[in-house]
Amino acid sequence: MRLFVAIALPPEAASELDEVVAPLRPAWPELRWTGVDAWHLTLAFLGEVDQPVTGRLDHRLHNAARRHAPLSLSLAGAGAFPGPNRARVLWTGIQGDLDGLARLAASVQAGARRAGAPPANGGRGYQPHLTLARCRAPADVSSLLDTLGSFAGTPWVASEIYLIHSRLEAHPRYEILGSWPLRTRLSS
Ligand code: 2AM
Repeated sequence: MRLFVAIALPPEAASELDEVVAPLRPAWPELRWTGVDAWHLTLAFLGEVDQPVTGRLDHRLHNAARRHAPLSLSLAGAGAFPGPNRARVLWTGIQGDLDGLARLAASVQAGARRAGAPPANGGRGYQPHLTLARCRAPADVSSLLDTLGSFAGTPWVASEIYLIHSRLEAHPRYEILGSWPLRTRLSS
């Protein structure tokens, strides 16, 4: 199974972003736009994972999540991988408790490694983002970035992490396999 661990967006944050993105989609049909329902912030991409490892992940992700406090985050700005003139991926960025987000991602990646599902890229170069579109061929998206760059969403508090199964079909389909709460004030 192709798995990844992510933070979900609250519906309000997704609607705000969609208000900005929806008018852009028809003007850029050459991009493969992601759907609102698929929006998420990846913490770790695990790639292909065997069934027995999935069982061990449950325990490890539980332990990783409970060591971190909920995170105040917001969506903001835009960028492209590997760059605006030859983009493959168009994304919106994250603001707020980025240090906490990076620490949470590192814990999730370490837990996955211990469970026997090391992150696909070794966990290096974690750059939090939300993918808005993928380009069929490298594209110049500079003018899109000008439009999206001023986007600044309302902050929200992320309070759980999700293990997600990605099925690669015409559009990737995501199925939630488990969720674990970040630390609450009452627990340690
Ligand atoms: P992306 O949004 O930048 O494409 C499900 O595919 C999630 O895992 C997406 O968030 C995707 O990132 C991420 N992902 C897929 N393949 C990946 C890889 N090889 N390395 C890191 N992240 C990957």
